[in-house]
Amino acid sequence: RPIRLDAASYRPFVAPEEVERAADVVRSLHPTLVERRSESAMVGWLDYPSRIGEETLGGVEAIAERVRRDADVFFVVGVGGSSLGARAALEFLGRDAAAPEIRFVGEDLSPTSLVEALEAVRTRRVVLNVVSKSGTTTEPAVAFRLLRETLETAVGPAEARRRIIATTDPSGGALRAMAEAEGWTSFDIPRDVGGRFSVLTPVGLLPMAVAGIDVRRVLAGARALMAAPEGTDPAADDPNRYAMLRHILYLKGYAIELFVGFTPRLSGVGAWLRQLFAESEGKNGRGIFPVTGKYTTDLHSIGQYVQDGRRLLFETFLWLEDEGVDVTVPDRAAADGFDYLRGRSLQWMNEQAMWGTYVAHRNGGVPVGRIVLRDRSPEAFGALVMFFERAVALSGMLLGVNPFDQPGVEAYKANLFALLGRPGYEARGEALQAEIAA
Ligand code: PA5
Repeated sequence: RPIRLDAASYRPFVAPEEVERAADVVRSLHPTLVERRSESAMVGWLDYPSRIGEETLGGVEAIAERVRRDADVFFVVGVGGSSLGARAALEFLGRDAAAPEIRFVGEDLSPTSLVEALEAVRTRRVVLNVVSKSGTTTEPAVAFRLLRETLETAVGPAEARRRIIATTDPSGGALRAMAEAEGWTSFDIPRDVGGRFSVLTPVGLLPMAVAGIDVRRVLAGARALMAAPEGTDPAADDPNRYAMLRHILYLKGYAIELFVGFTPRLSGVGAWLRQLFAESEGKNGRGIFPVTGKYTTDLHSIGQYVQDGRRLLFETFLWLEDEGVDVTVPDRAAADGFDYLRGRSLQWMNEQAMWGTYVAHRNGGVPVGRIVLRDRSPEAFGALVMFFERAVALSGMLLGVNPFDQPGVEAYKANLFALLGRPGYEARGEALQAEIAA
């Protein structure tokens, strides 16, 4: 299996009777999800890998081929669910030698990132992929406006039109309207797939295909995880079991989950997980707060707290069994005191570090769950995405919150509109200015 849960790793912190009780709840909630009876039916991601259709998939591949021929730099202009999944895929799987440089912009309002991006638009052959489901998010909208104007000045409006791709709602929003009016190539983000669940739609598939990743293999990996295998107890199916075990820990007061990878290949996955879990769970005063780390690097920074600080967090190790590359210490003597490592590989040492940390932290009172990834194949990435999307959906239901909305994000978005002077937000703007001045 490309991804599996080491359920035994939770054992010292979770009693069998607690698991039995929670398993009954999982068995009763599971059908709600798979039969699409959950809140607002925003569960299109659950079977999208099998219903994407040849037209969309072939379209993604064809456009990606054109970008690979025509561009030195491919910009993904988006934020949150519109960028983090693609970032995760590219950091995990890498890009091939024929791929253009792939850059992410529109993720913040800092001028620094944009200054460099605008310079690239002036001097290199670029393609812009603007990604926004709502079409109303300030950060990517501002970045896109500036990039587009610069591109039009650099290559002329007709050529700029060929170099812009919009990925957005099928019919609503300003971005869709612009795409239609300008004749840009465009892709749909399905209505029933929310932003943070959209990595396996054209949102993530196009950047992956531009990078030279076989998106059909990614989707095949996801399909294999779409449902519990025939005849399996839903409570014993790994994504559900992971959601259940961490929920039991939550009920015991462990309110922070530290996702840890032991390779920079998983840093993007960590950032994607942070958003997926925080936005899906953190509402109505509930939810596990997700944080991320990279070991062994962070054992030399936050390791002290994890081992010995206040007991409020648990860890989820993402262990990658095969990074696809390795380095071996030469079998030669040196005076550095490390001769016992002669002939040993880095992958082996990293694994010993993982086990050493696992035992030390558990002995320090930190529950450690382990999720094992077989390799860095496209199938493994697809399976990982489906694993965690299913887990977080069930997890939200266990918490009694709607995992598919994000009212907190909307509150910030509205305040920003008001402070920036968007028409229609005048009263809110005045109230905010009064609060700031008070
Ligand atoms: O999960 C979500 O819906 C959000 O994180 C969005 O992805 C994010 O706010 C960006 O929104 P949009 O794609 O509408 O620009």
